[in-house]
Amino acid sequence: MNTHQLIEEAKNIREKAYTPYSKFKVGAALLTKEGKLFTGCNIENAAYPVTCCAERVAIFKAISEGYHQFQTIAVVADTQRPVPPCGSCRQVMSEFFEPDLEIHLTDLSGTVKTITMAELLPFSFSPDDLIDK
Ligand code: THU
Repeated sequence: MNTHQLIEEAKNIREKAYTPYSKFKVGAALLTKEGKLFTGCNIENAAYPVTCCAERVAIFKAISEGYHQFQTIAVVADTQRPVPPCGSCRQVMSEFFEPDLEIHLTDLSGTVKTITMAELLPFSFSPDDLIDK
């Protein structure tokens, strides 16, 4: 699956976002090293902080199915620039993504910003920081 196809998958799943509160729909498409696709959309809740972002839905779906190694991810929203993932999603991504994994961020106009995990969240708290604790 190429980047264009991955972005199309993210756009498709974005339509399924459950966003009665913000009306802000986000889609994510995650490709495993094996070539398996997991998609996610944001799912909001009347108790607002319970909301889960599209990126984390896609990652948690993959992890819960036993997939831990990833090639790339695409994220799309109706923004004025390629959508920047929130801090919580960056931290979850950094748990599972290699530093050089490429993240494709886009908007509905088609502008794509490709950034590595290390660029998206430098100096992140990592599992290695817990060693010997
Ligand atoms: N949202 C995402 O799904 N991903 C992001 O990276 C940014 C924010 C969602 C959460 C909430 O449902 C809505 O966008 C507005 O914050």
